[in-house]
Amino acid sequence: MAVKNLTAKDVMRDAPVIPVIVLNEVAHAVPLARALVAGGIRMLEVTLRTPVAMQCIEAIAKEVPDAVAGAGTVRNTKDAQAAAKAGARFIVSPGYSSPLGRACKELGVPLLPGVATGSEIMAAQDDGYMEMKFFPALQAGGVPMLKSWHGPFFDATFCPTGGITAANARDFLALPNVACVGGTWIVPADAIEKGDWGRITRLAKEARELACPK
Ligand code: 3PG
Repeated sequence: MAVKNLTAKDVMRDAPVIPVIVLNEVAHAVPLARALVAGGIRMLEVTLRTPVAMQCIEAIAKEVPDAVAGAGTVRNTKDAQAAAKAGARFIVSPGYSSPLGRACKELGVPLLPGVATGSEIMAAQDDGYMEMKFFPALQAGGVPMLKSWHGPFFDATFCPTGGITAANARDFLALPNVACVGGTWIVPADAIEKGDWGRITRLAKEARELACPK
């Protein structure tokens, strides 16, 4: 997907759901990305949780032009640099550190920093980050927490991730400070292992239907 100067807003506003992808085999990366794109989901967070994750990002970046490969579970500068080199066009982190924030700016790659407390939001905002991942969303306070944050952090926008499913996604998406949600439910491990790409396309299409006009 040819978007010049991709921003965190572009990443968050492309679809109601960012899939949080865990890949154990490089061979699964391209068909999975194609299945998601066929269902209308283009922003793909490939988590750095498996030894093949970087290769998967590289394969999607090269072979699926309609997708935007991003890297998730990025915890330090070194991983951010490697992910960008592999072709990641956005980065998602489970927490926030200023060195990571600076590295992503230097790389010119949008970052969705993970936050779970007011202090973390303040640290990310100090460094210029206004779009964030709220992680782990359900465990850290869910919808009531986001409602409380909307007062002091009226200029922050969140992608809640962690514990989100088709059943509760709408509750989050209805909030004024939520642009999208993240989750693994649209990329189930068993569907990936079996190569059931049709199921993943169906789940992606259902996820697109969750859109809440604001
Ligand atoms: C993440 O890594 O961002 C979350 O663990 C995804 O959580 P979920 O499996 O509850 O969607």
